[in-house]
Amino acid sequence: MPIHLRAEPGDYAPNVLCPGDPVRAQYIAETFFDPGFKQVNEVRGMLGFTGTFEGKPLSVQTTGMGAPSAGIVFDELAQLGAKRLVRVGTCGGLADDMSMGDTVIALTAAADDHAPRQLSQMDGIVPTATFSLVEEAARLTREGSMGKVHIGPIVTSGLFYEPNWEKFNTWKALGHLAVEMEAAMMYVVGAMKGMEALALMTVSDMIGEGDGDTVRISDEDMKRGVDQMMEIGCR
Ligand code: ADE
Repeated sequence: MPIHLRAEPGDYAPNVLCPGDPVRAQYIAETFFDPGFKQVNEVRGMLGFTGTFEGKPLSVQTTGMGAPSAGIVFDELAQLGAKRLVRVGTCGGLADDMSMGDTVIALTAAADDHAPRQLSQMDGIVPTATFSLVEEAARLTREGSMGKVHIGPIVTSGLFYEPNWEKFNTWKALGHLAVEMEAAMMYVVGAMKGMEALALMTVSDMIGEGDGDTVRISDEDMKRGVDQMMEIGCR
């Protein structure tokens, strides 16, 4: 039994949805899972649930905020037999054509954070999504009646309160769509442990030109964003 996910192999489904927030993990289980799901973890409030979605086994496990916390969870999920991780998180939007509540699918997640590079032992690593999952997500996006979905590179930052806000303008100029704090770690652990991985994020704030310019999402837009991610994440 791992130290932080107090569960046994078999308690988690091979496919695991990974939100940062325990309240969102509970919302996902209660709203989208078939009746009869069970709680499989509560250590440190990192709630995890296993059940089924339209009859197929599915788990949801909280990762907490930032790569060090998320990295513990991803590793322990691998120890417990997970085969596919799908992050269902939030991000700060950088792209001009983006609005609050849009969905971002991360092709790559540049590690502006020491932890994923420390784990991989390669400073030049490019943490990358599993292509078949990107392809499937893009197909569902085209076929569904979803709001706006953006697919491209993002940045995983080690800091939320970044003192050098100028940096975000440079990432934006380099074509990066959004900033968040866990995807690079998920892609590195996935590559190292043989798990498929895909990061989906709802744009929860738009990153402006200067410090303090950030505007946060309304509860209504957030719910719409999470529900939209579920149209991809549960499949
Ligand atoms: N997650 C959601 N918004 C974010 C932001 N602005 N920076 C980093 N991570 C985020």
